[in-house]
Amino acid sequence: MSDENIKFWAEMSSRYDSVIDDIFGGNIRPKILEKLNEEEDMGKLIELGCGTGYFTKTLANKSESITSTDISEEMLEIAKERLKECNEIKFHVMDFQDCKFDDGTFDTVFMGLVLLFADDPLEALKESRRILKSEGAIIIADPDISFLSFYGMLKFRFRALLKYRRVPSTGHLLNQKKIVDMLDKTGFEVVKKEIIQDESNPYSISANYIKAKISK
Ligand SMILES: C[S@@+](CC[C@H](N)C(=O)[O-])C[C@H]1O[C@@H](n2cnc3c(N)ncnc32)[C@H](O)[C@@H]1O
Repeated sequence: MSDENIKFWAEMSSRYDSVIDDIFGGNIRPKILEKLNEEEDMGKLIELGCGTGYFTKTLANKSESITSTDISEEMLEIAKERLKECNEIKFHVMDFQDCKFDDGTFDTVFMGLVLLFADDPLEALKESRRILKSEGAIIIADPDISFLSFYGMLKFRFRALLKYRRVPSTGHLLNQKKIVDMLDKTGFEVVKKEIIQDESNPYSISANYIKAKISK
C-alpha cells in the first residue's frame, strides 16, 4: 500500500461515515450488519480494514475473540473511541496484504467494503487464506456498481468525486463473478453468495455478501 493511499484514508477518517453512506446510500451498511447478525459463532475472527469500526461490535458479539485491523492509524483511533466500552477487541495497524500473523491463526476473516481497495485483490485473498485455519471461512461484503442504470452510474461518479474528492488509486470494480473466480483460484469454496440491495433507493449501490470456506 502506497504512502499516498495511507494518507488518503487518514484524511478521510474524520468524515468517512457520512461520506460512505452518501455515496452508497445509507441503508447498505445496515443491511450488511443484518446479514452478519444471521451468522453463527465465527470463532477466532480477524477483521481486515475495519475503518471506523462500523461492523466491529456486531462481529465481536458473534465471535469468540476479535482482532480488528486497518492500514490507517487515524481510522483505528476513531474505531477505538467508538468501541471504548469493548475491552475485548484487539486493534492493530496492519496492511492486509502482509498480515503479521502466523499461518492458520483464525477461524474467520471478515472484509467489509475493503477488498476493492487492495493493490492486488487476488494476492490479498491468498494472504487471507494463509492466516485461516484449515476449516476456516472468509466473509466478504463488497460494493458492486454493475446494477446501476446509466443515469445511476453518472450520479454515483458525481457523488464519489464530490465526496471522496479523489478516488484511491487501488479502487477496483469488482462484481460477484470476479470475486467468486478469485476465491476459486485462491483455494476457497463459496458457500453463500447474495446481493444486498436497497429497493427503496434506485441510486443506492448494491453489495455482494459472499461467504467461502477453505476447499478440502
Ligand atoms: C471503505 S473503508 C471500509 C471501512 C469499514 N470496513 C466499513 O465498512 O465501514 C476501507 C478501509 O480499508 C482500509 N484499507 C485500505 N487498504 C488497506 C490495506 N491494504 N490494509 C489494511 N487496511 C486497508 C482503509 O484505511 C479504510 O479504513
